[in-house]
Amino acid sequence: MKAKGLHDHNLLEQGGIPAALPLDQVIVGDCVAAMNALPPGSVDLVFADPPYNLQLGGDLRRPDDSLVDAVDDDWDKFASFAEYDAFTKAWLAAARRVLKPDGALWVIGSYHNIFRVGAILQDLGFWMLNDIVWRKANPMPNFRGRRFTNAHETLIWAARGEQSKYTFHYEALKGGNDDLQMRSDWYLPLCTGDERLKGADGAKVHPTQKPEALLARVLLSASNPGDVILDPFFGTGTTGAVAKALGRHFIGLEREAVYAKAARERIAAVKPLPPEAFATAPSKRSEPRVPFLSLVEAGLVKAGETVIDDKRRHSAVIRADGTLSVGPAIGSIHKVGALVQGLPSCNGWTFWHVEREGKLMLLDMLRGEIRAQMAAA
Ligand SMILES: C[S@@+](CC[C@H](N)C(=O)[O-])C[C@H]1O[C@@H](n2cnc3c(N)ncnc32)[C@H](O)[C@@H]1O
Repeated sequence: MKAKGLHDHNLLEQGGIPAALPLDQVIVGDCVAAMNALPPGSVDLVFADPPYNLQLGGDLRRPDDSLVDAVDDDWDKFASFAEYDAFTKAWLAAARRVLKPDGALWVIGSYHNIFRVGAILQDLGFWMLNDIVWRKANPMPNFRGRRFTNAHETLIWAARGEQSKYTFHYEALKGGNDDLQMRSDWYLPLCTGDERLKGADGAKVHPTQKPEALLARVLLSASNPGDVILDPFFGTGTTGAVAKALGRHFIGLEREAVYAKAARERIAAVKPLPPEAFATAPSKRSEPRVPFLSLVEAGLVKAGETVIDDKRRHSAVIRADGTLSVGPAIGSIHKVGALVQGLPSCNGWTFWHVEREGKLMLLDMLRGEIRAQMAAA
């Protein structure tokens, strides 16, 4: 099928984004042809929810003989594993071509297809970063009781290549997770209720609409505001709806015109969140380095003053050259922090305090003041 709509978009260059990108549009057609018509190295992230090749042989029925609304659509049918593999190789290669060198790809699947997809993407040069288990809060039961309830799907997150400097907002995710590292098992409900698109007859518009919360976690963790997110299997446009809400651009590719229309209508109704609701907090690693001596020079701490830990068990004296001393030992805030605790290492910024108006103040707070001054300058 030939991709339509690639030549009637805005060709102007926008803020570092290559010209000829159909930003925030849904293109009807085959995703391989559509991706091959895009400039190489032009998108930041690919999110793909491809056909799973569910291989359903005949109707699926509940114990009361009622029919299960299973995925039996033509777009999910392949004659053989070989045909599915050839299709997978074609779209993954096309996706890799359009990714920027530091780009990454997410692909979601089930036990039917994800292992084949994983092997092919490694063969093509992608570099695996994680597999995420989406544990479903409300999975469909195994009606015949012949297997375990299939209660999860798997997402693979892979960089374009081994050397890619991919985006990952480690600290933002940790901050939203009670300051614990975000784990690779995500517990989220299926897409139901008002979020599920339904036709005038009340029937689902699409059999496999993904939950917006799943896409939000993907985009918040692995992309930046303003990034271009390409979804080659757009369906009802969940990726586009979430991208628009979170200040990202999207490119949606979908072979079925009826789904593309539903996606456009859905996305048109989405109101972007205010930028402060999704702006990425700067990661600690990207903040400018501040030597402890700068605090002495700025007068925020004084040579001869004492630093102490939060339990007031250890103390050291600040020296004029920005080192600390304890007895005969002299060293950086980190080395002396490690020494007094008998540990191999210590972050002096988050260990030592000074006393201000009867209260302990962490050195890291004072470092923050210097950084704020640097940002203002
Ligand atoms: C699993 S669904 C994606 C559902 C989507 N994530 C959502 O939330 O609505 C896969 C979609 O890919 C589309 N599709 C299948 N083969 C395609 C191809 N070669 N090119 C473009 N779209 C394709 C199907 O029509 C289907 O809508």
